[in-house]
Amino acid sequence: MPDNLSDLSKSATQEINECSSTTELDSLRVKYLGKKGAITIALKSVSSVEPKDRPAYGKKINELKSLIQGTLSQKRASLQKKEINQSIDDKKIDVSLPGRSNFGGHRHPVTKTLLEIEEIFYGAGFAVEDGPEIEDEYHNFTALNIPSNHPARAMHDTFYFNSEFLLRTHTSPIQIRSMEKEGVPIRVIAPGKVYRRDSDITHTPMFHQIEGLVIDKGINFSHLKGILHQFIDTFFEENTEVRFRPSYFPFTEPSAEVDILSKEKNWLEILGCGMVHPKVLENLGINTEIYSGYAFGMGVERLAMLKYGIKDIRSFYENDFNFLNQF
Ligand code: FA5
Ligand code: MG
Repeated sequence: MPDNLSDLSKSATQEINECSSTTELDSLRVKYLGKKGAITIALKSVSSVEPKDRPAYGKKINELKSLIQGTLSQKRASLQKKEINQSIDDKKIDVSLPGRSNFGGHRHPVTKTLLEIEEIFYGAGFAVEDGPEIEDEYHNFTALNIPSNHPARAMHDTFYFNSEFLLRTHTSPIQIRSMEKEGVPIRVIAPGKVYRRDSDITHTPMFHQIEGLVIDKGINFSHLKGILHQFIDTFFEENTEVRFRPSYFPFTEPSAEVDILSKEKNWLEILGCGMVHPKVLENLGINTEIYSGYAFGMGVERLAMLKYGIKDIRSFYENDFNFLNQF
C-alpha cells in the first residue's frame, strides 16, 4: 500500500505541475480529490488494511491529501497570473500601428446646391415655405389657372394616383398654399422635390425646384430681373452669361425662362418666371388694384450641373461613389 501512495503522490504532483490551464487544473482536482477521486477511494480503503497499520496508513493518506491540495492551489495561483498577463497582452493596442482611415460622409451635391440657394434668398429677406409632395389637382393645376383640358397639363407629364391626387409636377402649388395661409404681402421661397415622366441628359423623373414668390404694392418685372441677376451673380461667383427668353405659363403674364451659358458654350434653361397672373390672385380674393408680384421656379440640379460642369443630369442619381466623392 505505501508504494501505491508514493506512486499516487508522484503522478499527482507531476500532472499538476505540467498542467497548463486552470480548466485542466479543475479536472485534476476532481481526478484526485473529487467524490470518486483517487484520494477519496484511498481513504475508503483504510478499512481493508490490518487494524494495527490503519492509523499510520490513514495519516499518510491525509498528508498526501494536503500535499495535493497545496500543490493545486500553488499551481492555480501561478496559472491565473499567467492567464491574466496573456489576456492583457492579447488586448494590447499597438499605438505605433498606422490608423485605419475613416470613411467621411458628406452632403449630396444637389443638397449642397439647394442649401446654398436657400442661404442666398434667406439673406435677401425671403422666408422658407414647405408643401406636400402628394398634391391635389386643384393646387397643382386649377388654382394656377390651368383648368382641366388645358393643354399645359399635358406639358407636365404627371404621375397621377387618381383623378384627384398626383405627385406635384412643380413647386408652384406652394405659391397658392402660402397665400392661402399668410395672405399678402408675402416674400417666400419654397424648395422641394418634384416629379415628372421625363428622362434624358437634362431631365430626371425626380428633381428639385425652388419656388420664389413676392407679392406687394408696386412690384414690377424689373424687381424680378433684379433679384434673379443678383442671385445668379452670388451663386456662380463669376461672370455668367444670362439670357431672359419670352415664354408662356398660364399662371404668369408676362412670362420668361432664363438660360445660362455652360462652360461648353451651350445654353441651359435654369428657371421659369413671370409676373403672377391677376387670375391667380383674384381666385384667392387678393385685390389686384393694390397688389402685384412676381414668381419664379428654378431647377436645382440644373444649377448644380452648371456650377460643377456636369454634362448628364442623371449622374446625380446613379449613386456612383467615384462621381459623388468629387464634391
Ligand atoms: C415650371 O415648373 C414652373 N412652375 C416655373 C415657374 C414658377 C414659372 C413660377 C413661373 C412662375 P418648367 O417646367 O420650365 O417651369 O421647370 C422649371 C425648371 O425646372 C426648368 O427651367 C428646369 O431648370 C427644371 N426642370 C424641369 N424639368 C426638369 C427635369 N425633368 N429634370 C430636371 N430639371 C427640370
Ligand atoms: Mg421650362
